[in-house]
Amino acid sequence: MLSVVVLISGSGTNLQALLKATDNPLYPAKIVAVGSDNDAPGLTYAELHEVDTFVVEPGRFESREAWAQTLLASVQHHQPDLVVLAGFMRILPANFVNALKGKLINTHPSLLPLYPGAHAVRDALEAKATVTGVTIHKVDEGVDTGEIIVQQSVPVEPNDTAASLHEKIKVIERELLVQCVQDIATKKIVLS
Ligand code: GAR
Repeated sequence: MLSVVVLISGSGTNLQALLKATDNPLYPAKIVAVGSDNDAPGLTYAELHEVDTFVVEPGRFESREAWAQTLLASVQHHQPDLVVLAGFMRILPANFVNALKGKLINTHPSLLPLYPGAHAVRDALEAKATVTGVTIHKVDEGVDTGEIIVQQSVPVEPNDTAASLHEKIKVIERELLVQCVQDIATKKIVLS
């Protein structure tokens, strides 16, 4: 059984999908804790599943590195095999990323390397893209630059708004993330 810590910043619907998947006893991963950089609404999904939660707010620290070191300690306390950034909206510094090498993945709402950063859906619309999608990738020190694990495309309709397009992406994203974590657990995908 793969032990997973999930980090979120917002609504947590990807987290919710993972938690739902783990309700099936045949699913080969379990979520051992959920962390956030703020009192995120999505933490309630963890509480409903009686999964441990922790919040480490950057504003309480003198530097990003000090914040990340405390976040890392909170993550490592749960001894995860995998750490999933699922809507975690902060860039993690080297001390965090290096300590979790080979165990840290992120889900992002575009076909990377297109539209990295915090506004991927808006950026795709502004670029008049006709196709965008989802990427699950390894995390390195850059902004959405780590090695790509899986991607799936989503068509952009002429009348799409950022909200409607993001909703369509998230439907695909949740399925892709649940499958990706399963494939890591069963070693169909090997992170190095
Ligand atoms: C997801 O679409 C995720 O890909 C995106 O935030 C959303 C979180 O949704 N992450 C990024 O944009 C990171 N650059 P959720 O909180 O409902 O899972």
